[in-house]
Amino acid sequence: MANITWKPEGRSDVVAEVRDGCTLMEAAVAHSVPGIFGDCGGALACATCHVVVAEEWLAATGRPGPDEDEILDMVEAGRRPNSRLSCQIRAHADLDGLVLHVPVSPA
Ligand code: FES
Repeated sequence: MANITWKPEGRSDVVAEVRDGCTLMEAAVAHSVPGIFGDCGGALACATCHVVVAEEWLAATGRPGPDEDEILDMVEAGRRPNSRLSCQIRAHADLDGLVLHVPVSPA
């Protein structure tokens, strides 16, 4: 299990315990995190699961692979240096305490 905090811009934080192996997109959708939709179900096709990893957690979450890297260029809110697609991050004990910022797309 890992305790995860999502910080959607301009909205209240969402905190949840996420079981090992569950993607952080699935967990976000299950907990109605604003700004995360997971439209493609984790198939790396929609970029609606965009999060920005807090600086201190970059080593634990790792960097995007080549396919994810390509899709990240499609994110509506604009890619940032620590951007990841949360469907590509699976919960595990080493991520306990992880903080993810959730950019909100311009209207
Ligand atoms: S859920 Fe579609 S790219 Fe992550």
